[in-house]
Amino acid sequence: MMSPKIKNEAVVDLLQKKKSAFVSGTEIAGALGVSRAAVWKKINRLKKSGYTIEASRAKGYRLTEVPGLSIEEIRNALSGRPRIIGGEIIFYDTVSSTNTIAAELAGKASSGGEGCTEGTVIIADGQTGGRGRRGRAWVSPPGKNVYMSIIVTPGVPPVQAAVLTLMTAVACASAIRRLSPVPVSIKWPNDLMVSDRKLGGILTEIKADMDRISYAVIGIGVNINLEVDDAPDDIRSIATSLKYETGRPQSRTKYAIEILDEMEKWYGIFMKEGKRPVLEEWLRLTSTIGKTVNVTIGDTLLTGTAEKINDEGMLMLRLSDNSLKVISSGDVTVLR
Ligand code: BTN
Repeated sequence: MMSPKIKNEAVVDLLQKKKSAFVSGTEIAGALGVSRAAVWKKINRLKKSGYTIEASRAKGYRLTEVPGLSIEEIRNALSGRPRIIGGEIIFYDTVSSTNTIAAELAGKASSGGEGCTEGTVIIADGQTGGRGRRGRAWVSPPGKNVYMSIIVTPGVPPVQAAVLTLMTAVACASAIRRLSPVPVSIKWPNDLMVSDRKLGGILTEIKADMDRISYAVIGIGVNINLEVDDAPDDIRSIATSLKYETGRPQSRTKYAIEILDEMEKWYGIFMKEGKRPVLEEWLRLTSTIGKTVNVTIGDTLLTGTAEKINDEGMLMLRLSDNSLKVISSGDVTVLR
C-alpha cells in the first residue's frame, strides 16, 4: 500500500518539538500515519534541501540545522492575493544596512525618478553597518537573523511616525507569538523583549515636510539564530534569540513570512481605521505600562511609573512629585 504524502513541515515540526533530542523513525511514522520507509525518504529529501539531520540506526533522527533564508519561499507565500507589504521583495546577500538601501530607493521614487512601489521590502542575509536606535550599531552577522526594511507612504502627518513604529512592534510580536511559545512582549516604544532580554528592534526613518510623511522606511531586526559568540560582550548579556529561547534552530524564512503577513494586516488596519486599534493592541502586548521604570534621555535619568501612552504613542511617566511627564524618546529600563 502506498503511504500518504508527508509534508516537509510535518516532519520538521516533529523533530523541532523534540528540541535537539533524537526521534525514532517508528515514532515519526506513527505520528504521521506513514511507513518508516516513507519517513526515511522524506528525511533524505529534507537533507537535500538544506536541513542538517543526524541519523542513527539505534536512536532515529535529530535536526541540528535549518536551511538559510529562502527568498523564493517568501515570494511564493506572499503571492496568493493582492497586497501592499511585500508586493515587491528585493534580496541582498550582504548590505551595509537595509534601511539605507530602502531610503535610497524611496528617495529616488519620491523625487520622480525610477523607484519602487509602496510596500517594497529590502531583505538581507547579513549587514555590515546595521543601525539601531539612537545611533547604535545593530549586530547583524550573516546567515543568522532577519534584517529587513519596508517602504511605506502613508501620507499621514509626521507626528504619526511613532505610531507606525508601535504598529510594527505589534505586527512582529504577534507573528512571533503565533509561531513559537516564546512569551515576547513590547518594551516602550518598540523593543521586542523576552523578559528582560532584547529579541528584536525597529528603526523607523522618515522623510517628511511640515504636514505629511512622504515616505517612511521601517527597519526590522529579529534575532532568530543569534548565538552567544556572535555578539560583542556588552550585547551578550542583554540580547536573546529564538534559538536560545527555544533550544533549537529556527527558520528565518518562516518568521520573515509571518512578520510580513502581520505587517500587511496591521498597516491595512492603520490606514483604514487610524491609530486607535494599533494603540489598543500595543497596550495588550506591552510589558512596560504600570511598571516602575528608569528613562534615560541623553544625560538625564528619570525614575517614575510608566502610566500610559498618549495618542501619539508617547510615554506618560508619573514622577515622584506626582507630575506627569511626556516622553517622546528615550531608553527605558523596567525596574519592577
Ligand atoms: C533598535 O535599536 O532596537 C532598532 C534595531 C533595528 C535593526 C534593523 S535590522 C534591519 C534594519 N536595517 C538596519 O540597519 N537597522 C534595521
